[in-house]
Parts: sequence; structure tokens; C-alpha cells
Amino acid sequence: MFSGIAINEDFRGKHILSISQFSQKSILKLFKKTHWIINRIKQKRNINILKRSVAALLFFEPSTRTFLSFSSAIKKMGGETVDFLSPDETTSFVKGESISDAVKVFSAYTDLIIIRHPEKGFVQKVAEVSQVPVISGGDGAGEHPTQALYDAFTIHQKFGKLSGLKGLILGDVLYSRSIHSLLKTLALFKGNSIYLYAPKRLELSKELAQELKGKIKIQEINKVDDIPQDCHFWYTNRIQKERFKNMKLYQHALRSFPVITKSLLEKKGNKNMVILDPLPRVKNTDPEIDSDPRALYLTRQLENGMFVRMALVGLVLGKI
Ligand code: NCD
Repeated sequence: MFSGIAINEDFRGKHILSISQFSQKSILKLFKKTHWIINRIKQKRNINILKRSVAALLFFEPSTRTFLSFSSAIKKMGGETVDFLSPDETTSFVKGESISDAVKVFSAYTDLIIIRHPEKGFVQKVAEVSQVPVISGGDGAGEHPTQALYDAFTIHQKFGKLSGLKGLILGDVLYSRSIHSLLKTLALFKGNSIYLYAPKRLELSKELAQELKGKIKIQEINKVDDIPQDCHFWYTNRIQKERFKNMKLYQHALRSFPVITKSLLEKKGNKNMVILDPLPRVKNTDPEIDSDPRALYLTRQLENGMFVRMALVGLVLGKI
């Protein structure tokens, strides 16, 4: 599968499809530009770097944060977006137009395509035929690179590093594309150790385990007692209901789905850790911990989503 070419610290004109395209240096360059954006916003200085740039947002799957943060990111930098929610109902896809024809049209009229699709690998197919850069907003149960980039930015902002970290990842490790991309990001840095706590049958796939082998220490656990108390972060993501073909399996997995509660935090947490969730939350964290300063999912992590995407679009379009 075409997964985009290596970024090598030069984002200009490149598709952003997978964390596999990134190196430590490319990630740190993106973070540096993100800080530049954050500072300019803080100082109320001009960030109209995308004047006359147009991006098409094609979301074949429901989205709140990714759609809104990309759309706002572009507009806040003076660019325009043409937004398509459910393009399979609102564009010529409904008439049976081929991907390759449709993508030619999108690339003729816009400077950038941002796309989310339920099928793993679909975004990559679009990139193969596109004349303009394509940024993935998630491809089925594959990857969600921009999500992981801002999750990692949030961790880096807190600890000043992305190496030598201990983390707990709870949830649907099999289907969560956010978890997949985060694991791949953490595997680019040295000395990270991750505890995976997933319900039975939603564990890490053999394929991804193989890819991560030797790059990151992974330990799979299945009970609270095995959670270490000294994690830098806990990362949770809801069960990905839409990926299940067998609803019995879904119901079964839901029953043993690990939930972050106040009592779990008291038992296994520590003062300095952070709690992240790409959202939407579907019972995977108890709202009673929302006001805990360690819970960043509705505050810092969310804000960073737009800032990191602003920097990424700026870099891809060669404007920063
Ligand atoms: C994630 C996704 O779409 O994969 N959401 C998001 O972009 N913030 C996570 C999810 O849907 O569970």
C-alpha cells in the first residue's frame, strides 16, 4: 500500500498519510512550528499565511473535532475551505464517479485535500492519484496520524521529551486508529515502555506488534493490579463500535472495557501524570474526573489539536 514518502523534515507538497513517514526530527520540527503558531496567537500577531489557499475537506465518516479543527485552523490562517460531510451523498460519488476522476476534480480546484474514510487504505488510494497534497483525517481502523501528532505534542509539552516515558493505553487497541498512530509515534523515540490494557479480542494486532518490535517495549495486561503506579500518561479511547461485524462480540467486549474512574486514579495514578483521550468519550472515562487537573482531554489536548494542524497545513503548503 502507498503510505506516502518520508518527510525528512521537508513537508512541502507531501501527503500526510502515516506516522511511518516521520522521523524524530520531522516530528520535532512540526512541534517547533506549532510553538511558533501558539506564540503568534498569544501575541495577537498576524498569522494570515494561507491567503488564497483553498482546502477541500472530504469526510466520509462522522467527525466533530478533526473536521472542525482542520476547518478552523485553515480559516484562522486566512485560507478557505470547501467542506463536504458525507461526500458519498453530496458529490458525484453518488452518481458512481470513480475515485480517480473525482480526485482529479478536487485537485484541479483546491490546494489541499483533507480526507477521512471508513476503509483502511482509501486515503492512500486518493493520494496516489492526487496532484495536490492529501492529509489523512483517519482511514478506517488504519491510522490517524494528525491525532497522534497532537497527542504526542501534548505529552511533550508536559514532560519536555518523548523518550524514556512510561504510558498506559486503555481501550480498543485492535481497532483504534488513534492508538495505532500513537504507538508508532512513541516507537520513533528511545526507551518508551507501554502497558496495553484492552478487552479480550481487542488486543494489538500481530501485524502492528511485528512493526513495533524492538522499537518500543510493550506489555499487555488484563487486570487493574498490573497497572504500574508510575506512568507518565494514561491514554484511553472508546470501543470502536462501527468496526464490529459481530455485535455479540461488541457487547461482550464492552462488558470488560476498562474505564478510568476516580477510584482507579486514586489506586493507580500519581501526581504528575496526564490523562488523554482523542474523544469522543463513550463511557471510557467517568465525567467525575473531568475537573481533575491531570485530565487534559477537554482542555489542553483539544486546543493542541488545532495548533498542531495549523502548523502541519502551513508546512505542507510551504508557508512556514
Ligand atoms: C478518533 C477517530 O476518529 O479515530 N476521533 C477523533 O478524531 N478525535 C477517535 C474515535 O473516534 O474514537
